[in-house]
Amino acid sequence: MKRTKIKELLSTTPTGQPVTVQGWVRTFRNNQFISINDGSTIQNIQAVIDFTATDEALLKRITTGACISVSGDLIASLGKGQAVEVKVKELTILGDCDAEAYPLQLKNRPSLEYLREIAHLRSRTNTFGAVMRVRHAMAYAIHKFFNDRGFTYVHTPVITGSDAEGAGAMFKVTTLDLNKLPKNEAGHIDYKEDFFGRETNLTVSGQLEGETYALALGDIYTFGPTFRAENSNTTRHLAEFWMIEPEMAFYELADNMELAEAFLKFLCKYALDNCADDLEFLNKRAQEEDAGKPQEQRSELGLIDRLKFIVENDFQRLSYTEAIDILKNSNPNKKKKFQYLIENWGVDLQSEHERYLVEKHFKKPVILYNYPAEIKAFYMRQNEDGKTVAAMDVLFPGIGEIIGGSQREERYDRLVKRVNELGLPEKELWWYLDLRKFGSAPHSGFGLGFERLMLFVTGMTNIRDVIPFPRFPGSAEF
Ligand code: 4AD
Ligand code: MG
Repeated sequence: MKRTKIKELLSTTPTGQPVTVQGWVRTFRNNQFISINDGSTIQNIQAVIDFTATDEALLKRITTGACISVSGDLIASLGKGQAVEVKVKELTILGDCDAEAYPLQLKNRPSLEYLREIAHLRSRTNTFGAVMRVRHAMAYAIHKFFNDRGFTYVHTPVITGSDAEGAGAMFKVTTLDLNKLPKNEAGHIDYKEDFFGRETNLTVSGQLEGETYALALGDIYTFGPTFRAENSNTTRHLAEFWMIEPEMAFYELADNMELAEAFLKFLCKYALDNCADDLEFLNKRAQEEDAGKPQEQRSELGLIDRLKFIVENDFQRLSYTEAIDILKNSNPNKKKKFQYLIENWGVDLQSEHERYLVEKHFKKPVILYNYPAEIKAFYMRQNEDGKTVAAMDVLFPGIGEIIGGSQREERYDRLVKRVNELGLPEKELWWYLDLRKFGSAPHSGFGLGFERLMLFVTGMTNIRDVIPFPRFPGSAEF
């Protein structure tokens, strides 16, 4: 008989109908009650087996972690805690699980640090099941948001020849024999001999290629993996992360900010509407974690309230210049509590400053705009004041920067001048500059870090726990 997923069974009226359930044993109590999970939902289904009529040897094999198939009748549950249960008629062990050796047998909840070392099994825990179902829901909602607005999903390359973004160190891609590198006459590595006949690397962003399609199809977005070889060992950085980058022709900075705000609100609302079970579990989980922390580190709102707060409140828009004034006169700055003190206009903001603005000063998400040109990328549109660019960052509570974006410099002469000022390779950027030569248009876009969004939506506190297999300095197991 074909199996029915637990999610479906739990919402079925039990009439004693025959059903088959397949999944992994979570617990087996009193030689009678088997709690089974199949990943379709955070909820388990209870299967009740008649031990007096079951072979002793088979009962022994019903251990935590074992994969089983049970067939029986779906009946209203006699016990508390569940509406339905399966009265077992037939049980087959599909995969034994040695209770002694199984790492998730532990009575106490295993730490997230330990689970990272067994990322191939952590998928079996309630926490990772919940996180990954929410991750899927968010990926789906992202496509829905853009599809509903007439955006085209563009697949930008993973291997690129340019570091035009300048966003961070890159991973090289090569098939050259590292023990026998070909050299040219000047003694440098001869990349002409390499696979692509040139130097290549993994992309840090699909933006520049995305722009080429925005200036043809109008509204586009990318959604793919990006790579940064920075040695950032933080709870908010990965070496491989997924980014969503919409790019819109005819959008100015204000339109860009509006879209970013609507996008984040839509995603939080989608999670609330579609991931209730998992969010409730994660909410409780975060509360338990919080309880072990000192008072001042606990969140004021629970996870679900934080999501509602985003949906219901407007984001604060603030220029970089206004932000510097606030930060300069803030208590932590005056009392020298910031690690990086704010003294002059022009400095880059650290996450401690971003979080102060969001969590202490405004107590809501902030969109900072018009940053100093010196601390932003070459492609951002130059403002008339001669010192700022039309950049914007969206800052979220507990996260800091969740989105970075800008209006793009669409004026050929200005862009070329900036490329040269910064000593960037004008020749390699020929195709990007061409866009400004042939039918240029005002346009804007931004990048949302998918795992930063996931941190916010799941209430998890380490970015390594919201992606199935995290890649960070010193770690590429699995
Ligand atoms: O601010 P970033 O570097 O902007 C860009 O890459 C632009 N090309 C985006 C655009 O305008 N199309 O990165 C965008 C976002 C950040 O706001 C952050 O959420 C996330 O990507 N991000 C990271 N997430 C995880 N690990 C890292 N190392 C990240 N670096 C950036
Ligand atoms: Mg940024």
